[in-house]
Amino acid sequence: MAKQYGNIYTLWGGPLAVVVLSGYEAVKEALIDRSEEFSERLETAFFNDIIKGRGIILSNGHTWRQQRRFAVVTMRKLGLGKKGMEHQIAEEAHQLVEVFARSKGQPLDPTFHITNSVSNVICAVAFGHRFAVEDEQFQKLIEAINYLLKFLFSPTHILYEIFPWIMRYLPGPHKQAFSSLDTVISFAKDEMEKHKETSSLHEPQDFIDFYLLEMEKHQNRNDPVSTFNEDNLAQCIFDFFVAGTETTAISLKWALLLLANHPDIQDKVHKEIKNVIGSSHSMCYQDKKKLPYTNAVIHEMQRFKYAFVSGIPRQTAKDVKIHGSLIPKTTGIFPDLRSVLLDPTRWKTPAEFNPNHFLDKDGQYVAREEYLPFGAGSRICLGMQLAKIEIFIFLTSLLRTFSFRLPEGVKELNQDPVPRVAMNPHPYKICAIPHCRT
Ligand code: HEM
Repeated sequence: MAKQYGNIYTLWGGPLAVVVLSGYEAVKEALIDRSEEFSERLETAFFNDIIKGRGIILSNGHTWRQQRRFAVVTMRKLGLGKKGMEHQIAEEAHQLVEVFARSKGQPLDPTFHITNSVSNVICAVAFGHRFAVEDEQFQKLIEAINYLLKFLFSPTHILYEIFPWIMRYLPGPHKQAFSSLDTVISFAKDEMEKHKETSSLHEPQDFIDFYLLEMEKHQNRNDPVSTFNEDNLAQCIFDFFVAGTETTAISLKWALLLLANHPDIQDKVHKEIKNVIGSSHSMCYQDKKKLPYTNAVIHEMQRFKYAFVSGIPRQTAKDVKIHGSLIPKTTGIFPDLRSVLLDPTRWKTPAEFNPNHFLDKDGQYVAREEYLPFGAGSRICLGMQLAKIEIFIFLTSLLRTFSFRLPEGVKELNQDPVPRVAMNPHPYKICAIPHCRT
């Protein structure tokens, strides 16, 4: 559509209009150069009814500012120290390696195992502990999140946005979306209760501990504008699960698929890890500086097979004039991040899986300003650092242990995505062959 209508155009869904920003220049101008004017998240009937302005991803104004600032600082604190995030991620990566080892080189669909691992990372951050895969409550939590993500931008969701006053009273999949949210919120609230009974808040260990402490501080001060309460805490945890599980899982699934389809690239990554790191210690995020080729492959994988169909919609915080057009306040904005990652004016071979996009002539890693899978500006992904650490440690731990090969008789895995809000690959199986046997 950008080819036909230009890099800024309006899409109509019934009576609802959203302005799409396509390509690096348009997205950069809005999200980076004019960050404040485009800083709000889109408010719609369904999102207002289900989220009620709480948490971080879909909140605006004072609630967003206060919750986001606190979460950014807390994420940083949780990343430090021996029991920091990296240690927990390395532990999850170890569990995932064990699962692949048990498959004994037979074809395996990695979806279930990767989803459990990345969900457990969020559990470790939010609750301070992981869950056994067979835990029924944990599986219900994952199902509820999957249902909600499938529901978003489905025909029933769109109908709800256009006719909310009717849909509120009709049965249908939207009712299950509401009960899925309740499932996640009550899971979070149960954990909060357990923390209140057992935790020693003078030594906070996880997000709930830090948040309960902050709530207490604001209550003691009788702060009249505090947004620190149990509903916002539960909503923040919901946000971490919704924003942080499927996105990361999809990225890892694409990575294994692409590497199985490109054995030459996979072998180069393996050789680099083997030669530089060896098998002396478990992988840590700092190692990425010593692994320029591996680092470039990870970036290229996220560029070439982006986890979202476009990005997370924003809305204008005031009337905005851009490229001669007036966009009124509270108009929906779709910053099309996929189009930035595939922008033919910025990437040499945008439609090819080509790690050279992130390498200089000496084979050193180069950062690219048009690499924006986590968005940009004041609303940039809050879990970006966590996601980067996860993807690096999970992938390198797997690749130093196994060679990922196509099952016998399979020539290539399907590289087309299943088109939804989150762009999953089609279900596939791969064989994890331990290196010592090859
Ligand atoms: C590969 C993995 C991930 C990708 C591709 C991704 C991408 C994004 C994008 C595109 C946005 C919108 C940014 C914008 O509007 O400019 C976002 C927001 C957000 N992400 Fe992520 N994300 C990932 C992982 C995570 C993780 C692990 C967490 C866990 C904490 C997380 C938490 C959030 C939150 C809370 C927001 C809302 C920020 C706000 O509105 O202020 N994300 N993410």
